[in-house]
Amino acid sequence: MRFDVITLFPAQFAALTEEGVVARALQRQLAQIHLHTPRDYTTDVHRTVDDRPYGGGPGMVMRYTPLRLAIEAAQAEAAAEGVQSRVAYLSPQGERLDQRQIERISAAPGWVLVAGRYEGVDERLIEDCVDEEWSIGDYVLSGGELAAMVVMDAAIRLLPGVLGHADSARQDSHSSGLLDCPHYTRPETIGDRSVPEVLLSGDHQAIERWRLQQALGRTRQRRPDLLQGRGISEVEQRLLDD
Ligand code: ADE
Repeated sequence: MRFDVITLFPAQFAALTEEGVVARALQRQLAQIHLHTPRDYTTDVHRTVDDRPYGGGPGMVMRYTPLRLAIEAAQAEAAAEGVQSRVAYLSPQGERLDQRQIERISAAPGWVLVAGRYEGVDERLIEDCVDEEWSIGDYVLSGGELAAMVVMDAAIRLLPGVLGHADSARQDSHSSGLLDCPHYTRPETIGDRSVPEVLLSGDHQAIERWRLQQALGRTRQRRPDLLQGRGISEVEQRLLDD
């Protein structure tokens, strides 16, 4: 899959592209990330990408034309590679993403992600060029770059072949609609706490049962809202009651 990111701060994306799971996926050409800066699409000597808001008030607004040209150039580049991209704008006003949305995003061939700065972008840019508006949570970042990186990380790690173990994405917290179970590694004992005995038993069925039970219990305790949306099977209800 291919991401084209429209950003004033391309250097920030080194956090994603230089090391870690995503960097390895890019090296192996399982995904592509291309960065575009609206500054390259300005025509004035100062290469102005922002301006004061009509009506007054603090902060600056990103101008329509440099953003539009950058988006169109990114879409044309993607199309030349045979990738049809939709455009998503990252903002706190967008639809809040969850793992189900990430699965949908990950299944698409390409996205142009628009990372806004300052107070946001000219509303007419959203009306004319943006297909979807996404938020990564109910808090305000100083720009869409981190949000774009969050989305790309979450989507790229779901692509076939990206994670080492075949099951590690499927077993993720949230892909089942539940929080993750606790994990342990050596040493077996730390102070007076030992690893739960079932994990040492070698009984894979019992281990799977314990893990599901823990995941259900934690989800009920910490995020009952997740269970409300998801529902609970008879088997799971019995595990919860045990
Ligand atoms: N830009 C600023 N805050 C954001 C958020 N919470 N989600 C997505 N983009 C953002």
